[in-house]
Amino acid sequence: MPAQEEAPLLEALKSHIKARRVPFHVPAHLGRPLPGFAGLETRGLFSLDVTELPGLDDLHCPTGPLFEAQELAAELFGAISTFFLVNGVTAGVLAAHLYYGGKGKKILLPRDAHRSHYSGLILAGSTPVYLPALWQEGIPVNVQAKDLEVALAEHPDAAAVFVTSPGYHGACADLALIRELTGSRGIPLVVDEAHGTYLSLSPKFPTGAGEVGADMWLQSTHKTGGALTQGGMLHGGPQVDPARLRFFLGLLETSSPSYPIMASLDEARRFLALEGRKRAEEAADLSYGLRSDLEANSPWQVLAFPSFAADPLKLVLRAGGSGPEALEALRRRGVEPELAGFKHVLFLISLFHTSKDIAFLRDTLVKLKPEGGHEEGFGTPNFLQVPPPLPRQVLLPAQAAACTSRAVPLEEALGRVAAEMVVPSPPGIPLLVPGEEIGPGVLNLLTQLRRAGLKCQLADPALNTLKVLEK
Ligand SMILES: Cc1ncc(COP(=O)(O)O)c(C=O)c1O
Repeated sequence: MPAQEEAPLLEALKSHIKARRVPFHVPAHLGRPLPGFAGLETRGLFSLDVTELPGLDDLHCPTGPLFEAQELAAELFGAISTFFLVNGVTAGVLAAHLYYGGKGKKILLPRDAHRSHYSGLILAGSTPVYLPALWQEGIPVNVQAKDLEVALAEHPDAAAVFVTSPGYHGACADLALIRELTGSRGIPLVVDEAHGTYLSLSPKFPTGAGEVGADMWLQSTHKTGGALTQGGMLHGGPQVDPARLRFFLGLLETSSPSYPIMASLDEARRFLALEGRKRAEEAADLSYGLRSDLEANSPWQVLAFPSFAADPLKLVLRAGGSGPEALEALRRRGVEPELAGFKHVLFLISLFHTSKDIAFLRDTLVKLKPEGGHEEGFGTPNFLQVPPPLPRQVLLPAQAAACTSRAVPLEEALGRVAAEMVVPSPPGIPLLVPGEEIGPGVLNLLTQLRRAGLKCQLADPALNTLKVLEK
């Protein structure tokens, strides 16, 4: 236990900065300030941290510069109304679930949605109907429109459809077709575009949610647009009642919104409007060049998901041995990937990367040959090449969240009902959701995860115990 004179988190942050690895992860700004912040930076972090002083407007009731900033963002992204988010996209996801969901309402969504969607289901009390994701290369890639069509035929009474595009590994859903399927049935479409703020800026990129007229869509401007962490945007189309949406956001978001975050959203919008297309296309060219170079000159396998349009700024490489081992080896050589899966590593190319950064990544990868055959501790080589069975839903997430629970050793959890989310993070997609039965498939997966040492969010991060419902 450190003494009161110490500040352990600040010290950790200082040594992280000192290590100076080149980041290929979020946030997109890579620690390089947006152009409009250049002069301000020298004044220091604390000087920008103000509150709702005269002239600075009010996020919860905007009439001045914040109103104008949000209008400009709506114009850029093709929305009717745009809301700046200061509690991350999570706050916007929750608001969207409260807006469309509720007790007895069916929400169609992918089972590999981000954890915030399950929080939304719990808060709204909705009934989830899960859409199957297509698995390729051991990764839940994205939802196919034809599977949504089947689900819509079975559930024509759905209150809304939620999809994620791009998926975490860059596979973009066929939003034009999905919009047609939902629109023709009068069912609202919400797109979680957390990882694709830049999509609609260039016709060379896969189609973005704003281009197909989604009813609501969400962007993690911090992840993919250059804003400060927690800065995101929620966009609404013509069918959305902005006052009702603002009401829900008012329930969820802090009453002390951060001005540095909000100003970074405004500046990220300005930067994206003026330079976004050029920078996104340059970044895509760097990424394409890197891919062909690696394919020709290195043993790394560049993974592709041919059933989907690809976001060029996500680079997924198959590691010969284990993903976590590859990640550690890359870290030691000064490269910080976004994540490691069992057998792959993911790199996010940002609008802020330079050709020098990409050359550094290329050289590091070429020198660090992936080694095959290190399977020990990671189960059979083909483990996870097929999707684990979808856990049986015994109770709705909201019902399970209201029950009493207790922790049991992982080995004794078989057949019990989960009381907590178990979330490998990143990517933040839960393997278990409250109310789901812990079957042999998921238990096996959790045991593998524990052995592989992949980072998981749950009450016991060591994964020795699991919270289950009292019988
Ligand atoms: C697909 C997706 N949606 C929503 C979120 C939540 O975004 P935020 O971290 O900005 O709250 C994330 C975060 O990782 C995400 O990956």
